[in-house]
Amino acid sequence: MRKVIIDTDTATDDAIAIIMALKHNNFDVKAITTVAGNVDLEQATQNALYTVELCNKNIPVYKGSSGPIKRKLETSKFFHGKDGLGDTGPYIPKLKEQKENAINKIVSLINANPNEIEIIAIGPLTNIAKVFDKDPSTINKLKSLYIMGGIGEGKGNITHHAEFNFWVDPDAADVVLNSNIKIHLIAWDTTQIYGYINKENFEELEKINSSLSQFSIDIQQKALQYYKIKYNEYKVDLADPLAMAAFIDSKIVTEYKNCEIKMILNGLKRGKDIVSFTKKGNIKLASKISREKFLNTLKKSLV
Ligand code: RIB
Ligand code: CA
Repeated sequence: MRKVIIDTDTATDDAIAIIMALKHNNFDVKAITTVAGNVDLEQATQNALYTVELCNKNIPVYKGSSGPIKRKLETSKFFHGKDGLGDTGPYIPKLKEQKENAINKIVSLINANPNEIEIIAIGPLTNIAKVFDKDPSTINKLKSLYIMGGIGEGKGNITHHAEFNFWVDPDAADVVLNSNIKIHLIAWDTTQIYGYINKENFEELEKINSSLSQFSIDIQQKALQYYKIKYNEYKVDLADPLAMAAFIDSKIVTEYKNCEIKMILNGLKRGKDIVSFTKKGNIKLASKISREKFLNTLKKSLV
């Protein structure tokens, strides 16, 4: 069993990614840690607890950072809704979060399980940067670190220059990406090519006809409206589920490119990840992904 930590700013696509992880039979999810991003920390934590409950699991949820390292929090409620789950709730969990702080829990889990813990970060990297700052030895004790973030070889979604997770906390992204740890990075560019669901895919999800598939359809409706109005397209980009699919099954990514990344921290290009391809780079940027295998992994998780 793989020992896994999911770090998340739990909104619509995070919730689907969490379902994928909790339904995967080879994961021993040690902790879900929350971070402010799409919504504030309290809401992200509540959404994570609700999603765990929906999967009939009892995975411990730990609260982490309530805002970026240096900046004030800017959410994406315009897209994910005030509650982060498309405002189709209320989604009120019975489960309660753990008392221990997320950063302390991640540090203790890594130190208690050297070279066994795998982290997938699907929100701003504030918590991960604080873990590395609190105990730098954890950098060399992690088995793997998968990240959803950045524009890769494409353009941004929150500004032309930047993807939301890296834009919210560019300072944390800079710390983590330049900590010399080995990273698998699934950026916004591949999400737009391989990680979207369209009308046909929504119809396939309808046919699954389970509580999880219906929940995943319901919470995407606000995002779908946003795409229809802004781009006149019947589609939603599922960035976190694509990253989770790559984390679940490494064969889904058919090409990674080694790179180093320089982060722009301020100004018009705040949050921009400037990618330089080099064999000695510590970051593997996903560049080709099987859309068919992604969709199959997604649908299998929602049964
Ligand atoms: O840019 C996409 C990322 O930002 C996803 O993680 C989504 O949940 C938002 O956090
Ligand atoms: Ca997210």
